[in-house]
Parts: sequence; C-alpha cells; structure tokens
Amino acid sequence: MEKRDFLYEGKAKQVYTTDELDKIIIHYKDDATAFNGVKKASISNKGILNNKITELIFTKLEKKGIPTHFIKRLNERDQLCKKVTIFPIEVIIRNLIAGSMSKRLSIKEGTKPTNTIFELSYKNDDLGDPLINSDHAVALGLCTYDELDVIKNYTLKINDLLSSIFDNEGIILVDFKIEFGKTVDGDIVLADEISPDTCRFWEKGTHKKLDKDRFRRDLGSVEEAYIEILERISK
Ligand code: TMP
Ligand code: ASP
Repeated sequence: MEKRDFLYEGKAKQVYTTDELDKIIIHYKDDATAFNGVKKASISNKGILNNKITELIFTKLEKKGIPTHFIKRLNERDQLCKKVTIFPIEVIIRNLIAGSMSKRLSIKEGTKPTNTIFELSYKNDDLGDPLINSDHAVALGLCTYDELDVIKNYTLKINDLLSSIFDNEGIILVDFKIEFGKTVDGDIVLADEISPDTCRFWEKGTHKKLDKDRFRRDLGSVEEAYIEILERISK
C-alpha cells in the first residue's frame, strides 16, 4: 500500500490517503513539541521508535480484545491504519499523580490516589486542550453519553492491560493519554498512538523517567529513554 494525497499534519505525525477509502497511512516524524507547541525540537529517531512501540502495544491490545485502528507497520516510519473520525477528546488515566494534576492541585508527584483517575480534555489547541467533564463533552457535541461509556470501559481495560505489560518489564505506568475514533462502519476504536510521547513511564525502584518528560523538563538522554522502552516491551 502506498501514500496518495497528503491529508493532515499534526505535531508528531502526518496522515496520507491510500488507494482504499477506508485506510490511511500515518507517518511518524521526529518532531517534538511541549506546552502546546511553545517548545519545539527534533528527537533523533523518535518517529522510528514510536512507530515500532505503537505497533507492539496496539498488537498486544488487539490480542486482548481492544479494537484499534492499527492494521500493520509498513516500514520504519509508516503504518497502515483504518480511517477513523477522531473524537476531539484526550482521554487520560492517572495511576499516580504527576504532571498537570500535580501542579494544578498542588499534590506531590508520585502520590498514589486511592482510586484510578479518569480525565477528559477538549482537543483544541487554541484553548490549550482544557480539562472538561463528561457533561461538557456531550454539551460541546464531542460525543454522546453512550459513546463515552464505551470509551471509558475500553480505557479502564487498556489501563489494566498496559499496567500489567509494563509492570512485568519493571516499569510503572504513571499516566497516559489516548484517543478514540469512529470507523466508516461506525465502530469505536482506539486510535492515534501509545508511546513515550503519550505516557509517563517510571523505572520501578529508581523512578527514573523513561518518557517525554525528559524532553519537557530538559533532563537529557531522551532518545535513550525511548530505546529503553522499545527494548523492554520487545522481549
Ligand atoms: P499532563 O499531566 O500534562 O496532563 O499529562 C497527562 C498524560 O498525557 C501524560 O502521560 C502525557 C500525556 N500528554 C499527551 O499525550 N499529550 C499532551 O499534549 C499532554 C499535555 C499530555
Ligand atoms: N504535545 C503537546 C504539545 O506540544 C504537549 C505535550 O506532550 O506535553 O502541545
């Protein structure tokens, strides 16, 4: 399958049409941004690493019954996916408090809440992806309550599966962001990517950061952290 027309460019990926109307090709770039595009850089080989990491994770999730948009990896930077209409919602799970929740509510990073936190943000760069609740999402016409139920059920199952996959490799899944889309057949599927760009991974014991926080916080060794994640889940 080959790329046809350029469709869309995001901060880390490009999307192309193919000869088949219901399939697209996603191209993974090395570009990295943070703070809503304010901080920009290129992380060498990030596109290659995230393409492979997403392939491995989506394949594992599919095997456990989570429907995804992923069809197959085509080469180092491209993957063939089902065409979906993305819900403009960032779905976030927090197993430990970190990042924006830590800042916003002044809670020490690494604090373990008694419950699992399910969070929604409105995917809107002009507004800075604001935190919203389910009533806001429905009022804004981003999804229906029924769709949100499906999304939440899949998300909690994805959290269980991913937490266990990473736990087995000595990594704590602190939090992550995922996106869902609707296929031309009307099915809700996991879309976008799951990678160190979209998750917080801490090494068990040391709490060494193995994710995009190394870039956001200028900690260095960013590519090495992504390689480490790929190596651990490739075993
Ligand atoms: P946050 O603590 O900054 O809200 O991030 C929560 C999770 O979402 C974290 O794993 C990083 C991920 N994330 C993205 O994938 N994209 C984004 O634009 C942001 C802000 C966070
Ligand atoms: N991807 C986000 C941006 O630049 C931020 C992040 O991942 O922290 O807008």
